[in-house]
Amino acid sequence: MRTALLLCLIMPPFAQPAQTIQVHGHRGARGLRPENTLPAFEYAIAAGVDALELDMAVTKDNVIVISHDPLLHPPVCSGPKPEIAIHQLTLRELREWDCGKMQNPNFPRQQAVPGARMPTLDEVFALAPKGEFLFNIETKIFAEHPEFTPSPEDFVKLVLNEIRKHHLESRVVLQSFDFRTLIAMKKAAPEIKLSALYEGSPKDFTAIAKESGAQIISPDFHLVAAEQVRAAHAAGLEVLPWTPNTPADWDRLIAAGVDGIITDYPDELLKHLGRGGSPARH
Ligand code: G3P
Ligand code: CA
Repeated sequence: MRTALLLCLIMPPFAQPAQTIQVHGHRGARGLRPENTLPAFEYAIAAGVDALELDMAVTKDNVIVISHDPLLHPPVCSGPKPEIAIHQLTLRELREWDCGKMQNPNFPRQQAVPGARMPTLDEVFALAPKGEFLFNIETKIFAEHPEFTPSPEDFVKLVLNEIRKHHLESRVVLQSFDFRTLIAMKKAAPEIKLSALYEGSPKDFTAIAKESGAQIISPDFHLVAAEQVRAAHAAGLEVLPWTPNTPADWDRLIAAGVDGIITDYPDELLKHLGRGGSPARH
């Protein structure tokens, strides 16, 4: 009773609890290490991220691998051919490509890790015991290019097999711009949390949730406004924008009330939020 009275005296009326911002390492930590590689994920985990963000493709022999693009090409991966589709190669063939050799010129602080191969989802999920972070995993699937992937249902089946194998049902969020895979996952495993990615012209977040069945709306960060976030929260949704990389943009989004931020510099964002240290830079 005395504690309650004390709290009433020191807290202003209607005080809000402090806002916790979930930090997602985009493609691991693309600003610092080659995107979507094990070194990038390990860097992000050591920095103390709340979630690893990553993208998935499927090999010819139906192995889920981690890649943003359905095509292999420099500077992300270099190998025997200038460009080829991942879905045309077996995992063994894919491993001839080096996805850590070249620094991405768009990220001057990215440190190359020559010899890094494209990881499988199985290998990334094997990092789970290193912490309590989430896996925010994106199906890269394209309605206009069915040749790049299996069907949405088969893609989801392969992803779900890996989730079940590692018992990660409560630590995975499935995200996509293509809502066919979100709808397929909801049908196959309604316990998996879903995140609808969105870009383009401004659109009501609650309408996106209705279309996709997702609990999280993950828009291009330029589309975030406080009013939209308030409406999303009122509908029980979370808002998780991508991919702001500057303190000014982080602050604007935090002021707008977002629940988390996906960034290429997760260590910097953590520091900005006054959380954790940063792994050593070489
Ligand atoms: O998943 C959030 C963000 O990664 C979406 O954009 O193109 O980097 O996959 P992209
Ligand atoms: Ca992504």
